[in-house]
Amino acid sequence: MSRPTPQPLVVSLRRASDVTLPVQLATQVRDLLRRGTLPAGSRLPSSRTLAAELGVARVVVEQSYDQLQAEGWTQSRRGAGTFVTDAGVRRAAVAAPAARVTRRSDASRRLVSLDTGTPWQDPRADASWRRAWRTVALQRMPTGYPDAAGLPELREELAAYVGRRRGIACSANEILVTAGTTHAWSLVLDALPPGPVGLEDPGYRAAAAVATAAGRTLVDLPVDAEGIAVNALSGAPEDLRATYVTPAHQHPLGVTMSARRRMLLLAETARRQALVVEDDYDSEFRYDVAPLPALAALGLDRVAYLGTTSKIVQPGLRLGWLVSSAPLVADIIERRVRRHDHPSWPVQVAVLSLLREGHLDRLVRSARRVYAARSSLVTERLAGIGHPVDDVAGMYVTVRLSARQERSVVAAALRAGFVLPPLSASCRTAVRHGVVIGFGAVNEAQLRQVLDVIQAALRHA
Ligand SMILES: Cc1ncc(COP(=O)(O)O)c(C=O)c1O
Repeated sequence: MSRPTPQPLVVSLRRASDVTLPVQLATQVRDLLRRGTLPAGSRLPSSRTLAAELGVARVVVEQSYDQLQAEGWTQSRRGAGTFVTDAGVRRAAVAAPAARVTRRSDASRRLVSLDTGTPWQDPRADASWRRAWRTVALQRMPTGYPDAAGLPELREELAAYVGRRRGIACSANEILVTAGTTHAWSLVLDALPPGPVGLEDPGYRAAAAVATAAGRTLVDLPVDAEGIAVNALSGAPEDLRATYVTPAHQHPLGVTMSARRRMLLLAETARRQALVVEDDYDSEFRYDVAPLPALAALGLDRVAYLGTTSKIVQPGLRLGWLVSSAPLVADIIERRVRRHDHPSWPVQVAVLSLLREGHLDRLVRSARRVYAARSSLVTERLAGIGHPVDDVAGMYVTVRLSARQERSVVAAALRAGFVLPPLSASCRTAVRHGVVIGFGAVNEAQLRQVLDVIQAALRHA
C-alpha cells in the first residue's frame, strides 16, 4: 500500500520571541490539528524536510513532534513517518453536546430577512444547475487568463438575451462580462474622467458606497412618482460625469420611470456629454403590464446598461453584464487587462450552459408567477389597512409610513423574528419613512406572518 504524501504545514516561527522554537512549532501544529486542517491519517513532513523549510535545527522539529506524540495528536511509525491520529475527532465529539446547545440557541434566535436582494429559488431548477456544473467539470482545464471581456460565446449569448428580453440591439463587442452590478459600476467609474456623479435619493446604497470609494463626489437627486427628478439635474455641477438610475423598478421606492422622464434624462445627459448608468434591476418582474423598454434600447452612445444573474439565479454566482458603446467597452477591457481583472472562467462556462439551455428564461417565467402572487398578497393586505401601493413590480413592495409608524413596524417585526428594512435607511438627504417588504427570500407562511405583524403594529401605532 502506498504511503500518503506528507502534508505541507503552514507555520511561521519567530526567533525574537520568549517562547522557544519547539514550543512555538508544537503550538501551531496543534492548532492545525485541532481545527481539523489535517485530517486523521495525514502524514506530517519528515523532521529533516520541515527543519530545512523553516531554517531551524532538526532537533527543534523532533522536540515538537515528540511533544505532539506525547499528547496523543500524532504517532510516529519507524521508517514510515509521523501520522495524525484521530485525537482531534474524538476531542470534537466530547465537545459536541455543548456545541449543539449553542447551535440550537442560535437557531432559535435566527432572524428571517425580508431583504430585496435574495431571490426565490425554484426547487425544480436543481437539475439544470447541476447539469451546468457538470458541463464545467467536463471541459479541459483552460490555460492562462480568460479573455478580460468575457468568453466570446457568452458575450454572443448575452447579446441575444438582452435583445430578446429588454429590446437592446447590440453586438458581442458592446458587451462585457462582469462580476455583478456593483463591480460593473466600479468599472464604469474607473473609465470616466474625474468629476461628480448623480445618484437617486433614496437609492441603492451599495452604488453610493462604490462611488464614494472611487473618490467621487455624490450629487443626490430626488425621486418622485415618475422616477428621478430630471429637473434637479439642472442644479448639478456642469462636470457631472454620470447619473446612476434604476428606471425599471426604482430602488427602494418601487416606482417605474415614466417614458417622459426617460426622454428628458437622455436629452439632459446628451447635453452634458455625460453617461446614464442604467441598473436594470428587477426589470424581469412586471406583472400588470409589459416592462418599458430599457433606456439602453434607445441607443448605447450615452448609456451603460448593467444586468446581473443575482436576481434571476442567485447572488452568489457573481456574474453580470455591462452593455455600452463599443469604444467605452474597449476602454474598460484595456483597463481590466492591466489589472488582471478577468471574469471567472468556471462561472462563465456554467452561465453559458444555463443560457443555452433556456434556463434563465425559464427561471424568469417561474419566478414571475411566484412574485406576482406574493406581490398581490402584500398589496391587498396593505390596501386593506389603508396603505394602497400603485406601482407593483419586482420582488419587493415599499409602503410609505410616518417616522413613528416606521419605528414601531420595524421593532414589531424584529420581535417576531423578522428583519424588515426601513425606508429611511436608503435615504441620504431628504429622509422618507416606510418599510421595504422584500418577498424573495421568505416563504408564503413567513410572508403572511410578517404581514400580520405589520397590520397589528400599524393598527396599534
Ligand atoms: C438596486 C440593486 N441593483 C443591483 C443589485 C444586484 O447587485 P449585484 O449584481 O452586484 O449582486 C441589487 C442587489 O440587491 C440592488 O438592490
